[in-house]
Amino acid sequence: MRIFSGIQPTGAIHIGNYAGAIQNWVRLQDEHECIFCICDYHALTTVNDGERLRRQVYEAALDLLACGLDPEKCRLFVQSQVPEHTELAWILSCCASIGELNRMTQFKEKSERSEFINAGLFTYPILMAADILLYKAELVPVGEDQLQHLEVARVFARHFNKVFGQTFPEPQSRLTAATRVMALNDPLKKMSKSIAGSTIMLTDSDDVIRRQIKRAVTDTGAQSGTMSPGVANLFNLLKIFSSPETVAHFEEQYNSGALRYGDLKKVLGDDMVAKLSVIRERRQELAQKPEMVEAILSSSAKQVRKMARQTLDEVRDKVGYSPIYSI
Ligand code: TYM
Repeated sequence: MRIFSGIQPTGAIHIGNYAGAIQNWVRLQDEHECIFCICDYHALTTVNDGERLRRQVYEAALDLLACGLDPEKCRLFVQSQVPEHTELAWILSCCASIGELNRMTQFKEKSERSEFINAGLFTYPILMAADILLYKAELVPVGEDQLQHLEVARVFARHFNKVFGQTFPEPQSRLTAATRVMALNDPLKKMSKSIAGSTIMLTDSDDVIRRQIKRAVTDTGAQSGTMSPGVANLFNLLKIFSSPETVAHFEEQYNSGALRYGDLKKVLGDDMVAKLSVIRERRQELAQKPEMVEAILSSSAKQVRKMARQTLDEVRDKVGYSPIYSI
């Protein structure tokens, strides 16, 4: 099975990205053919500083390799190194209805936050569909917030197949145990770089990690008998960072009414520090070898570009474009 997923290089990677997606990427690379993408074309919808974007692409590569993506087992490349993504996006845009795009909740949220709403924000799901379909990927490991985009990717693929003949598989999603990590300081909202104080970054120090967990909101006035969103969020994180025995222990305490949030937070903080400090150290080592990181990205881009060209040649032929003149 071929797997594809991506992340936007819009700042340091946080535990929501890790728990919701990247942890799965690391697992899946042992079993399947995996292609992972640092989506800098997508990032241009919100980042408009060339130097910053370039730096963030590199930082994302460091984060992902430090999390355990292994260049021997998977491909990790930068989207703009494979310009075929944009050509397929154009072709798919002619298979995409405005009605579908209008339904996208992420566009609504993002456009409410910005004064200048660029068209790229609106057509974003088309480029995302192109990313996946270019490699004819069958499985896409993502967090819950991307499910709607994946659903329209299937609609676009179906439309193309119907009009031009069977070409693309309809990609399915793969979720982790923590599909939606919530903001630590406001557990009714999704953890996100755009909410200050909501995250723990992979690069945060042990002290910051412990402090953020200690400060995490627990009681948010939930009705008695239901777990409050803040506590549910901590249990979610516990499932990612702690052992099944620890999870079972605190679940039992919660059910018997004996749970002290302070105890849970202490264990979660310690377990998180244990996992994240390993990633942080690996990241520091990688940061000493920028040439190696560059070499991994460029070798992956060369390999995936061959696959991309193959699909695009097929697609161009089906829609009626001639082969590109060689220069
Ligand atoms: P991005 O960069 O916002 O996030 C990368 C991955 O992290 C997941 N994620 C979360 N999971 C759980 N809880 C959270 N609070 C949380 N925040 C983020 C996201 O679901 C995602 O899996 N559009 C994509 C990037 C993309 C892509 C693709 C993904 C571009 N092309 C093709 C898959 C396939 C995005 O903005 O992810």
